[in-house]
Amino acid sequence: MSRDQYRSSGSSAITRRKLLSTGAMGVATATTVAALGAPAAAQDTATDVIAQSSPEPTGEFTGQCAFITGGARGIGYACAEELARAGANIVLYDIAGNIDAVNYPMATEQDLATAKSNIEALGVKCIAIKGDVRDSTKLKESVARTVREFGRLDILVVNAGVTQVGVLDEFPDEEVQTVIDINLIGAVKTTQAALPIMRRQNAGRIVMISSILGRLGNENFSVYSSTKWGLIGFAKSTALAMAKHNVTCNSVCPGWVRTKLADNDYMLNAVSPENPNFEAVSEAAAASYHPLPMGAYEPVDVARVVKMFCGQTTATVTGEVFDISQGQNARFNA
Ligand SMILES: NC(=O)c1ccc[n+]([C@@H]2O[C@H](COP(=O)([O-])OP(=O)(O)OC[C@H]3O[C@@H](n4cnc5c(N)ncnc54)[C@H](O)[C@@H]3O)[C@@H](O)[C@H]2O)c1
Repeated sequence: MSRDQYRSSGSSAITRRKLLSTGAMGVATATTVAALGAPAAAQDTATDVIAQSSPEPTGEFTGQCAFITGGARGIGYACAEELARAGANIVLYDIAGNIDAVNYPMATEQDLATAKSNIEALGVKCIAIKGDVRDSTKLKESVARTVREFGRLDILVVNAGVTQVGVLDEFPDEEVQTVIDINLIGAVKTTQAALPIMRRQNAGRIVMISSILGRLGNENFSVYSSTKWGLIGFAKSTALAMAKHNVTCNSVCPGWVRTKLADNDYMLNAVSPENPNFEAVSEAAAASYHPLPMGAYEPVDVARVVKMFCGQTTATVTGEVFDISQGQNARFNA
């Protein structure tokens, strides 16, 4: 069947067009009606009626819900804040505690609590969950809780990640395994937990936070880089698997960003032992290999692109890889 035939065939194509054109409230009503078990024809009619009588949303994501892993700080928190400012209710899922085989501190329980209250201060609802992306059971329970409390799950930001840096043959097995387990297998488990509800809704947006090191190799970040290349393959495969369910999946690839993953003693001593200072490393990058003469991005710079991939303007864009890399992608082959 050609793409045009697919688009013009059957009720799923009709529902898809309707969902794309009615936006957040249209999706909400379709989900609610489906959950009530109405027959398919009645669902279409009910969707039209309820969508027309719903109040206009005040923000692009009003009434929607975003589930963000690693949301207690850094890029994940910035994504939460951007989406909340545009009306989305937020679920922050974060380990909020240190990890033995990771050589710098993770977010704390206090960070997670502060993130929750900052998001709530923007006028939306927020659930904060202390959980590990390596724990499938907890992820599934958390998605179930999300659907119980918010009725839906529209946006998934697969963000939680850790790094190690240094000479490959010096990394202990446990560190290698931990980076793979969190960055790659954790992303798979997170996505697996969210897909059933997105499939039932016939709607959803997934954004995976890869890295410039998912586009380039780097001798100091070999295992991290492999997980970020792998994540792009996983995101593209998820895009293919979920396209017929009206779920998009795209990856974004940030360069150097001002977060605790980059600005910590372990990282800075490894990349710049002579001057382990975040500003100095950022300035050196600006002066030497960043085409744009700038140092680090702020987390919000990444979050704005993530928001773009969750919004109406990209409703039919999927399987894409978007670099946010101080212009370094201009050096890629393609
Ligand atoms: N900062 C950068 O320069 C940069 C560049 C490219 C990509 N990234 C990617 O962006 C993402 C976010 O990183 P960041 O820079 O905001 O770092 P960060 O360390 O500030 O934030 C990561 C968050 O994830 C949480 N987390 C870690 N392991 C977890 C687990 N197993 N389960 C649940 N939560 C967990 C941490 O507690 C923390 O809150 C990561 O995937 C990272 O690889 C960062």
